[in-house]
Amino acid sequence: MIATDPAIEAEAERLLSSLMHVECDPKGRTWNLETCREIAPLTLEINRLKKDKNAVILTHSYVEPEIVYGVGDFKGDSYYLSKMAKESSAEIILFAGVVFMAETAKILSPDSTVIVPDNGSGCSLADSITGEEVKKLKALHPEAAVVCYINSTAQVKAECDVCVTSGNVYDIVANLPEKQILFVPDRLMADNVRAELKKRGVVKEIISSDGTCVVHEEFEVSQIDQARAQFPGLKVVSHPECTEEVAAASDFVGSTGEMMKYVKSTQAPYFLMLTECGLVGRLEVEDPEKNFIGGCRLCPYMKLNSLEKIRDALKAPRPDQIVTLDEDLRLRAAQCIDRMFELTPASK
Ligand code: 13P
Ligand code: SF4
Repeated sequence: MIATDPAIEAEAERLLSSLMHVECDPKGRTWNLETCREIAPLTLEINRLKKDKNAVILTHSYVEPEIVYGVGDFKGDSYYLSKMAKESSAEIILFAGVVFMAETAKILSPDSTVIVPDNGSGCSLADSITGEEVKKLKALHPEAAVVCYINSTAQVKAECDVCVTSGNVYDIVANLPEKQILFVPDRLMADNVRAELKKRGVVKEIISSDGTCVVHEEFEVSQIDQARAQFPGLKVVSHPECTEEVAAASDFVGSTGEMMKYVKSTQAPYFLMLTECGLVGRLEVEDPEKNFIGGCRLCPYMKLNSLEKIRDALKAPRPDQIVTLDEDLRLRAAQCIDRMFELTPASK
């Protein structure tokens, strides 16, 4: 009989208690005691390194489930994770998400060393516009309030008046005094803001740049129609990075955090989640009674994170894994994010 290490066995059991529920695994893995035993030495090592180095790991819900449930200290959407970064007193913040999220953490927590496991983890929205391009747009629309979605670079944030996330965008834009809004970088989210303000009877002109999310732009109304015909009673849940048509055909639209809350508090025989698959994995773990039908898609950038990269970056980060920002730029970007915190309703 092969002798098993009790610490590894206990860690494998701990991992299994969450991961056994994940059916929507990005690599198609079936989680059982054997697969959990394989990753247990890594999660044990990472959790030990966190203690030794006074580090915390922030995990976006889109990263792989063994990261979220194996080593994540805080898990959630961009707004929640930004708040956690701002409140953190850890010496090291490792952000298992994408680069703009780690940059945001550095802007808000400048005394911490902020680490990103893979500096190639971009975002099609953040990469769609530069700070210089925003400056040019501002010159064309000098009267406009300049609003950036948090999925943007520090250079872009430094040029903007206020930042928003998918959870507060409608309220913040609706409450701004300016009648003209220059919204970057998400064109589809701008369409959704326009539609929502119309519903609320708020009159504003929204001008947007041309970015889109490679994951959310792909969802189509025909997919919703087909699913509704096949699964009576289905609830369709989407993200404001989807098209206006998809949002209009959905039962609920919100940030990934709000999507989770909606599913947890709604009784329905089936849910169609029009977002990244990681969120379905989280819901399978945290609300295992619910049924999800296919539909979600993978974000190639989020999936660049791995336990191995996290372990190596915590042990000895390479220069390209440490987020550094010019202090003047950081301060300008911080103003834009602080204004978001001031303008976000306390209920969020
Ligand atoms: P959330 O803040 O809603 O999690 O959105 C982040 C994101 O990148 C969605 O694609
Ligand atoms: Fe960016 Fe879309 Fe990936 Fe979110 S899902 S990080 S918006 S590319």
